[in-house]
Amino acid sequence: MEFKEHIKIIENYPKEGIRFKDITPLMQNGEAYRKAMDEMVKYVKGKDADIIVGPEARGFIVGCPVSYALELGFVPVRKEGKLPREVIKVEYGLEYGKDALTIHKDSIVPGQKVVIMDDLLATGGTIDATIQLVEKLGGKVVGLAFMIELTYLNGRDKLKDYDIFTLMQY
Ligand code: PRP
Repeated sequence: MEFKEHIKIIENYPKEGIRFKDITPLMQNGEAYRKAMDEMVKYVKGKDADIIVGPEARGFIVGCPVSYALELGFVPVRKEGKLPREVIKVEYGLEYGKDALTIHKDSIVPGQKVVIMDDLLATGGTIDATIQLVEKLGGKVVGLAFMIELTYLNGRDKLKDYDIFTLMQY
C-alpha cells in the first residue's frame, strides 16, 4: 500500500514555513490505518519488546493499537501537569516550541525492553526526551518506531545509538 497517498500536507501550519503532515486522513481510512499498524506490529514483534511507550497525543494513536495487537502494556508520556501520580520530568525543544514531558515513576520495571512509538520524527526532541525518561526509570530502549520521518530535520543524528523504523520518509 502507498501510505503517503493518505497523508495530507498543509503549508504554513501551525507556523509560517512549516509543512504540516496530517495523519488524520490515514486514520480515517480503516484499511490504511490497519495496514500501517500491521507494519508497526511487525517491527515491535521483531524487537521482542516488553512494553510500549508513546508521547502524547499522537504517540497514543500509533502505540495503543500495537499494544493491543501484541498484548503488551502501554505507558503514556504526557505534557507537564497531566499525569495524576508521582512523575519524573524532562524538558525538551520542539520543531516549533518548547515543553516538558513527564512519565509516572512506577511505569517501567528496570530492565524492561521498551519500544517508543510516535506518529512523526522531526527534530527528534520529543523522542530524545522520552528516551531519557525511560532510561531514568531503568528501561532498555530496544527500538523507536514512527509513521513519518522528516529526513531533512536530521532527527536520526540525535538518536544514533538506537534502532529506528519509519514507515514513510519526506
Ligand atoms: C509532534 C509529533 C511528535 C513531535 C515531533 O507532537 O506528534 O510527537 O511533534 O517533533 P520533534 O521530533 O521535533 O520533537 P506535538 O508536540 O505537536 O504534540 P501533539 O502530538 O500532542 O500534537
